[in-house]
Amino acid sequence: MLSFITLLSLVGSGLAVRPFLGSADTGIELALGSTANDSLPDLKNIVGLPDFEWVAERYLNATRWSFFRTGAGGEWSYRNNLESYGRLRFRPRVLTDITRVEASLNTTLFGHTFSAPFFMSPFGRAEFSHPDAELNLVRGAAEENILYIASMHASKTLDEISAAKAPGQVTGHQFYNEGTDADTLAYFKQVEAAGGKAIFFTVDSAGDGNRHRAARWNVTSVDSGYTYATWDYYKHLGNLTSLPIIPKGIQTVEDAKLAVAAGAPGIFISNHGGRQLDFVPSALEVALEIYEEAPEIFQQIEVYADGGVRYGSDVLKLMALGVKAVGAARPLAFANLYGVEGIKKALQLVKHEIAIDAANMGLGDVHQINASYIKLNNPTWNGWYS
Ligand SMILES: Cc1cc2nc3c(=O)[nH]c(=O)nc-3n(C[C@H](O)[C@H](O)[C@H](O)COP(=O)(O)O)c2cc1C
Repeated sequence: MLSFITLLSLVGSGLAVRPFLGSADTGIELALGSTANDSLPDLKNIVGLPDFEWVAERYLNATRWSFFRTGAGGEWSYRNNLESYGRLRFRPRVLTDITRVEASLNTTLFGHTFSAPFFMSPFGRAEFSHPDAELNLVRGAAEENILYIASMHASKTLDEISAAKAPGQVTGHQFYNEGTDADTLAYFKQVEAAGGKAIFFTVDSAGDGNRHRAARWNVTSVDSGYTYATWDYYKHLGNLTSLPIIPKGIQTVEDAKLAVAAGAPGIFISNHGGRQLDFVPSALEVALEIYEEAPEIFQQIEVYADGGVRYGSDVLKLMALGVKAVGAARPLAFANLYGVEGIKKALQLVKHEIAIDAANMGLGDVHQINASYIKLNNPTWNGWYS
């Protein structure tokens, strides 16, 4: 029989907050821990996206670090974004011909072909990690032929970003409804003139993000206040541009269906990196909900997703459910400490990881991945913090 003390300690440990592993321990402390806080480790010693975050936490000042790192409320959405990938298992196949997997990475998004099913999600204030800010992002994207989506709240102007583009480079541009129709029209025209080929309309930020970590340093949302936006407004935006307008921040199957009904050519599953509303599902959980309740949506329109993506395997898990391309923001914000070379390295690392992980799953063509490659009824899947 359990003694009262044993029982008490069991209850206690159950109630204790389980420590959060922001990133797994893969030995970076042992390898680079002696690096002085005011210097960057050699880029050649960076082996994966989580390494850039490790570097940034030591190198950036508290204000800048907190702006990039913050989540909403107690940051449970932020943590769940990272942790939900760990709850889903692969079902790898063996003895298949995978020798052409690298060549299969090319991905067509809104009619334009990029080198991988991976893109750079929009984030503001890139100057917090490098004085050349978004210029590095757009140049790195060009060199690696990856889609870059520029934030409407970029540190550099749209003209500056546009001038840094390679000839013919296709970019996406994020949009917040902040002004009048005339302002919106002017922004869309500017995007079109800059060679932008898609608008990503952020729909997950109707109110301010409740960001405690950022509030301590006075660097909360750059898009503040309450925003008017409805599905009718979304349809109205189509009168102001001929570019595809993709709602960014879809978090339920109901809204995915409404997007299809509203004529959206694509949807972007996202919870803004856990920065807007705490206790919302991760992209993986939303993709699963759509897969279970309206799987046809993945065929009808292009589905994008982001949030907590740090490994090639995260990308593959989302793709297994039908997601066409997967993005990340913070890892690129941190890679930008190294300028264009850092961005290129980050993109190369992700591409390589997608290819080798796909190979180890028995996929000769990464786009052949489907739900048979993941274990949907895994008992560890349910629950947030299991
Ligand atoms: C510092 C920062 C700034 C961001 N700014 C924007 C923005 O201006 N517009 C937007 O739609 N999303 C913005 N986001 C959300 C990202 O586009 C993306 O959805 C999210 O960060 C992905 O999660 P990850 O950072 O874990 O990869 C921002 C995210 C971060 C971290």
